[in-house]
Amino acid sequence: MSRLTPVALTVTSALLVLTACSGGVQGTPGGSGLRDPYFPKAGNGGYDVTHYALDLAYDPEDRHLGGTAEITARATQDLTAFDLDLTGMKVEQVTVEGERARWSRNGRELVVRPHGDLDDGETFRVTVRYSGTPETVTDADGSEEGWLPTDDGALALGEPVGSMAWFPGNHHPSDKASYDITVTVPEELEVVSNGELANRTTTDGRTTFRWRTAEPMASYVAALAIGDYDISRSTVTSETGGELPVYTAVAPSQADAGREVLADLPDILEWAETNFGPYPFSSTGAIVAPKKAAGYALETQNRPVFPGAPDTTTLVHEIAHQWYGNSVTPKSWRDMWLNEGFATYAEWLWDEDNGGDSVQETFEAMYDHGEDDHEGLWDFPPAEPTSAARISDSPVYQRGAMVLHKIRQTVGDGTFYDIVQGWAAAHRHGTADTDDFTAFVEKHAPKKDFSGIWADWLYGDGKPDRP
Ligand code: TRP
Ligand code: ZN
Repeated sequence: MSRLTPVALTVTSALLVLTACSGGVQGTPGGSGLRDPYFPKAGNGGYDVTHYALDLAYDPEDRHLGGTAEITARATQDLTAFDLDLTGMKVEQVTVEGERARWSRNGRELVVRPHGDLDDGETFRVTVRYSGTPETVTDADGSEEGWLPTDDGALALGEPVGSMAWFPGNHHPSDKASYDITVTVPEELEVVSNGELANRTTTDGRTTFRWRTAEPMASYVAALAIGDYDISRSTVTSETGGELPVYTAVAPSQADAGREVLADLPDILEWAETNFGPYPFSSTGAIVAPKKAAGYALETQNRPVFPGAPDTTTLVHEIAHQWYGNSVTPKSWRDMWLNEGFATYAEWLWDEDNGGDSVQETFEAMYDHGEDDHEGLWDFPPAEPTSAARISDSPVYQRGAMVLHKIRQTVGDGTFYDIVQGWAAAHRHGTADTDDFTAFVEKHAPKKDFSGIWADWLYGDGKPDRP
């Protein structure tokens, strides 16, 4: 294919006309968003990321983060330009395939114009050198994510769009990738992230931590915790046969309560494997951050983050997300109930299996007076949140879990557990949406009629009639 050298051209459309005139294959810019129903500008069109290699240094004193992100991606169309999502930070240089690329910023979009066009199917490497004080992002519902400074370090959390505060990328759950996260900090601090710690070296008063995540990960569950942490390493025996490495980090202020609840982790994992099938990742653990570091817990891959020591129920919830959310990831933010409905159901199941209320009792109490504790429970159906501000509201969590219980009531326990485990197995390390789920359930119980459950519980407005 003939390539243009766009020496003096700055306007993409002019480039296109010229490409056409010169008889070359026509490329177009990749889209600036993936048209997610709730976050239309999240992610970008025209390529799939396969790997992120981040090499960053952080200085907590002046809150300065800087380094490079090297992104390996495959073009899914002929590309003259493409976007990365990045908010804040100063971009210093961008290269594509080792050659300097032109770039511009437009809100949260970093628009990259490579030196030569990229062909559909071509694997290419982008490096972005950047630095600055990363932003804390405020969500539509008022909660804070992105880069959250702490007294002695920082916590990076990404659901739904916070990861663009600390690295450029294709920040949408539909594009999962492997990661190498390398971070250098003053030597008295720890760095904890996803996957496994591959290397740790100290020179000249600074320590470099290299964390590797081989299994596909959505960027919203990438995590970084920098600060003073008590680290403990052990193993648990996993159903997959191996010894699973456990890496936990507990902020000193949370030491006692943190260690006490984390002692339950092996039991919770064993219980979860019995119910949901083999643990999907090659290591586990938890990060118990200082209490004020964040306003919520998050199921960050391998190693969920808690703001202060969690209770057992919250630990169960975030561990369940490793199957439902992190391994089976929603195709869009509309499919959040597939994360939160399952993780909430896991809490109910844990109670049932550990001497508490049966799920049936929890379901009935939720139906009768759930609004008392879960405001707006019947405001909208789980599969169709009314706005981006409401994707983490009770209809997604509790009413989402009620959908699962309606399925269990219809098919009985045997088939229900087959469905729950089969769903995790069928989409392991992949992505799925609500249609995939309803089709999966129907296929596993072909003699049952689910149309009323879908119409009333999953998609219907208002409180369904008492069954
Ligand atoms: N996923 C988290 C949990 O329930 C909750 C959460 C934190 C969340 N931030 C969010 C949900 C942003 C939706 C959007 O474990
Ligand atoms: Zn959750």
